[in-house]
Parts: sequence; structure tokens; C-alpha cells
Amino acid sequence: MKTNFASFAVLALGAMTLASCDNQPAEPISELLVEANQPGAEIKNTMYGIFFEDINYAADGGLYAEMIKNRSFEFPQALMGWQAFGKVEVRNDGPFKRNPHYVRLSDPGHPHKRTGIENEGFFGIATKADATYRISLWARCPNGGKSTLLIWLTDNDSMGETQETASARIDVEGKEWKKYSTEITAKVTADDLAFRIFLRGFDEKEPIVATDLEHISMFPKDTWKGRENGMRADLAQALCDLKPGVFRFPGGCIVEGTNLEQRYQWKNSVGPVENRPINENRWENTFPHRLYPDYHQSYGLGFFEFFQLCEDFGCEPLPVISCGLACQFQNEIKDEAKVHVALRDLKPYIQDALDLVEFANGSADTKWGKVRAEMGHPEPFNLHYLGVGNEQWDYDEAHGGDNPAFTSRLKLFSDALRAAYPDLKLIGTTGPNSEGWDFDLLQPRMKELKVDLYDEHYYRNEEWFLSHGHRYDNYDREGPAVFAGEYACHGKGKKWNHFETSLYEAAHMTGIERNADIVHMATYAPLFAHVKGWQWRPDMIWFDGLRSMKSVSYYVQQLYCHHKGTNVLPITLDGKVVAGDEYQNGLFASAVVDKGTGEYIVKVANTSNFDQSLSVRFNDLEGISSARQILLHSDDLDADNTLDEPEKIVPEESSISANGDVINVKLKAKTFAVYIVKK
Ligand code: AHR
Repeated sequence: MKTNFASFAVLALGAMTLASCDNQPAEPISELLVEANQPGAEIKNTMYGIFFEDINYAADGGLYAEMIKNRSFEFPQALMGWQAFGKVEVRNDGPFKRNPHYVRLSDPGHPHKRTGIENEGFFGIATKADATYRISLWARCPNGGKSTLLIWLTDNDSMGETQETASARIDVEGKEWKKYSTEITAKVTADDLAFRIFLRGFDEKEPIVATDLEHISMFPKDTWKGRENGMRADLAQALCDLKPGVFRFPGGCIVEGTNLEQRYQWKNSVGPVENRPINENRWENTFPHRLYPDYHQSYGLGFFEFFQLCEDFGCEPLPVISCGLACQFQNEIKDEAKVHVALRDLKPYIQDALDLVEFANGSADTKWGKVRAEMGHPEPFNLHYLGVGNEQWDYDEAHGGDNPAFTSRLKLFSDALRAAYPDLKLIGTTGPNSEGWDFDLLQPRMKELKVDLYDEHYYRNEEWFLSHGHRYDNYDREGPAVFAGEYACHGKGKKWNHFETSLYEAAHMTGIERNADIVHMATYAPLFAHVKGWQWRPDMIWFDGLRSMKSVSYYVQQLYCHHKGTNVLPITLDGKVVAGDEYQNGLFASAVVDKGTGEYIVKVANTSNFDQSLSVRFNDLEGISSARQILLHSDDLDADNTLDEPEKIVPEESSISANGDVINVKLKAKTFAVYIVKK
């Protein structure tokens, strides 16, 4: 008897449903049995990781530390994000072929008038007092001569004598385009400044000389690893602190695009940043109730930078490329010929995939390996995985007519990639749903096509998460393996970050972990959100211009990443796996051993509304006198961390006593716990 109730009368009440679990039985005691001597499936290094998409201003305005919006004047309205004053002209024969626009600043015509431009940044220019920022721009005096640019970080709402909060100066000389750089040290901490450039004569007595400006950029000096085209240090650090095993990029729906022109084309994201053409971000207008008309991708955070981050974090890169289908939600298949790429025209798309492998892995004397080497990375990036398509699907007779829209394309990619790179692991998809006709149609097709893994997505409510603890228990062990590439618990009527849904994610992940023989990767989504620019929530990490905070969902992911172990151990309650079933008191549990550290790790989510006594027995271990206990709990189920209170709900670690081969604990209602013992 592994589930003991002080009163057997409780059992006699009959089948206890999850809901009825909420009627607290008297003194429930659950005895979990861990078969510590039966290490099973290996847990892949890729098991828990991150999925990055430029949604919610995750890249430009977020992780990518560039502070100037529309730095190349290439947005559809060339001066979006800028205000011009005096005599400013937009021209389009600039030095960067793929970003030809620039501005010409000229004499305003009167000594008391000014010419200049002012950038609003991403929801304001945010500076920290005493921090230094790198400013760079390309400039020339088209008619010759010399000019001076005065750069101010202005507080336009200031009640002080001046709007200037910090300033710098750049002297421009000659007719040739040149890159000029300077540094500015902020005097204030503020997140709503503007970046202003005034044109002046070389010194105040000289006449004002026309000056052309292009690719105007400002970065904190203190980026992640101090890189010039760098990432925001706090946000990159938060990713690194997860210790992710895999990094899927660059999306999501942005891989597909609302139309094909808008799809993510990795080749546009490499090489000198000045010449990376911008792309509209499909999330600017996906939700009319959250519209961000100036949301574009500068591609400053491009594939080189993504690979570099993977290297920094020590995780496997997993790029995803377009399979030639524009977003299927937004484009009906009857318009196939108009909006998608016909099979006969797929070759350039497949070539992009082949070239990507060469960019990542090819030697510096291959065409694309050379591009990587010229960017400063002659060694390969060791790409092992490639995703083809994001949320794609086929159609059957009942749904628009038999049309293998996705798998027919995937087959062509697979044939070419397998022939060129037999060791590359290919990732297909079962579409946007965790079940249903489209999932049922695709899952066997992934097997037929012999992909190595397929990507499953599920954004589901509490009920789904609590009732799908066995999701992977009956999957075909022959494969392909599963990549739970996007998932999150979306509260019914409460689609925002809060503790309860994060707890259910933790509960669900016990089922992922138990099935590590077939689930090789899992990544929560989405990753980042700007508090002033989000389109989708919940999200894992929130930020504004100055601050960031880790949600409870982040900490759930981190606990799994940090305590992943190397092999699954059987753990049972009353002889059954622990997946929130009847008579299991709303418990979900998994266990692993870490053969490297000698730790035995048990994860338990108590999703019930009552405190429970747990006894965790480790078969074949003896003489344990203490254990580590890490608890994630909030009395307020609707609460989460915020930018003002970033550490309201964080894991709390303590040492508890153990008794030979057993630990006895009281587990509070609605709590996620990790117990760690060492032989
Ligand atoms: O994570 C947000 C979106 O959800 C992704 O872009 C897409 O793949 C899914 O529909």
C-alpha cells in the first residue's frame, strides 16, 4: 500500500477525481518509491532549452542591445522613430547597397535656427547613471569641408534649465563616407530620454556644412561579453543562467512570415550589420488589438550572433528555416499558387538550407564558411540539428481537400539534406496543435519521412495540463523523438503570467522527464517580452529599458535545467507512475539520477489544494541522513514576479533530514518541490 490515508474511509468514498482531490482528505500521506538502482533512459543534454523568437520586442528593443530605432532609415516611412528639424532630406544612394537610405542635414538658413534629428529609441532611450555608451555613425560632408555633430541625450520633459542629460561631439570631414565613433557617459538613470543630433559649423564661427548621416547606432559599452554588436547583458545573462541544452531560433511564425517576402531569410542576417536589410516583423500587426506599426527586424541579432550565443551558453544550436509555406493560419491553401512556393520552385529554399549548414560547419575556404570566418569565427559552430518549417500542416479530404502541403515540401528538403549531410538531425513538425485531425495526420507522416525529431506545440489551459500527465507514456518508442518546441499553460480567462499556471507546467514536465527516452528536447515559449511592447503572454522573462525580471515559469525551467540528471529512474505511487491520476492527490512526480554528481533527484508538483505528507523512499540507498529541498510556492496563485518585485516568488533551498533510505516531508498545497539526495 503506497498511498495511505489516515482513514481508509476516504478511499471507500470511491474514485477520487482531480476536482474531488480538492476536498481535503484527512492527513493524506503519499509514499513515493524511487527505484534508485534502476537507472533507465539517458536524458539528452538537449532536454531542456530555450526557444527564441523576435516577438514582444525580444530582439530589437530587447536582447539586441542597439538603442536606436530605425538606425538605417529603412523603415517604410524613412523617418519612423525619428523627428527631424531644420533642413533634413532623406536620400537613397547611400554607401550600403541593401540599406540605401540616409539623411542629409544642411544649413537651416539662419544662425538662430537648428538642423538635426532626434530618435525616440525603443519606448524611450534608457540610460543608467555613470554607464558608458558607444555611439557610432557613418558620415560625410558631400560638398567637402568639415562639420560638427553635437549629440545629446535629452530629457524632453525636464523641468531643469536644460534638456541635455549627457553630450558628445563628432567632427566629420571630407567627401568620403567614413565610420565615426565616440562614447558618452550618462549622468542620469532614466528610461524615457531621446537621442538628438544637432548639426553645427566645425566651430561656432564656421558656416554650417551639409552632412550626410547613415547607420546611427548607440549601444551600452557593457554588453554581454563586451561585444560591440552585442546583446543586453542582463537578458543574455538570464539565458545563460538557465544552463540551456538547446537553443531554437529565430522563431516561430516569423520564420514563415505573413507572406513569403516577410519570411526570415538567414542570409540577410549575416555579414556587416550596416548591410543587413531590415524586415517587417509579422508581430507588428498580427493582433489588431495590440498593434505596433514600427516593429521591424534589423537583423543585427542574426544567425552569426545566434550561433555565438549557443557557443557562449554551451548548448546545441537549432535553427529553423522556411519550408516554402507562408504562415498557414494567414493564407488559405486554395491560394497555394499565389502565396506559397510551388514544389518545382523550391530549389532556392533548399539551397538556403544547404548553405546554412555550410555557413555553420564548413571550412573557411567554402563560400559560406568564409562568410563566417570573415565575421570573426573561423572555427565551425558545430551544427547538428536543423528544423524545416514551423507550424506547418497537411490537409485531408475533410479539411480543404487532400494536400500534403507540408510533407511534400519537407520530403524534398530531407532528400537533399540527407544526401549532403547524412549526420545532420532533421526536425519536422506536427503543426500548431497537440491533438486533433492535423496532429493525427502528421504524426505518422513524420515517421514515414524518417525525421529524427518532430516539433510539437501546445499552448493549453489548466485542465489540459492537469489531465495530460500521461501524454508521452504511450508514444511509439521507435521514434521519431519528440521536441516539445513550444508550450505554456495559458490560464483560462487569465492568459498572463501567474504562479498557478507555472506550477502546472512544472507538473507537466515530470511527464516529459519520465519519457526522456522519447522526448529529447523541450522549450517553453515565448521567451521574452517588453512590458511596453508585448503581443503575447505569458512569457518567461519580462523587461523594460532598464530592468528585467524572471517569471515563475523561468524558475520552473531553471530547476529542470539545473537538475536534469543523466538517467531516468522509475518513481511510483501505489505501483503507478505519478501523473495526477485518481487517488494520487494531484501529485505529479519524476526522478532522475545524475551519474556525474551521484545525486538522486526527485521532482514533485503538488497541484492539489491541500498540504500533504510525502514519504520518498529510495530503493537500494541507505544511510542517507540529509537531503536538499528546493521549493517553489506562492500562497497567492494569481501572483508572479514583477519588475518592481522581481524576487517575490523564487525557489527556496534548505536542508532537510533523511532517515536511511527515506525522506519524510510535508508538501504544501500548490507547490513544486525538488529533493536531492546523495549516496
Ligand atoms: O510563440 C508564439 C507563436 O506561437 C510562435 O511564433 C508560433 O510558432 C506559435 O503559434
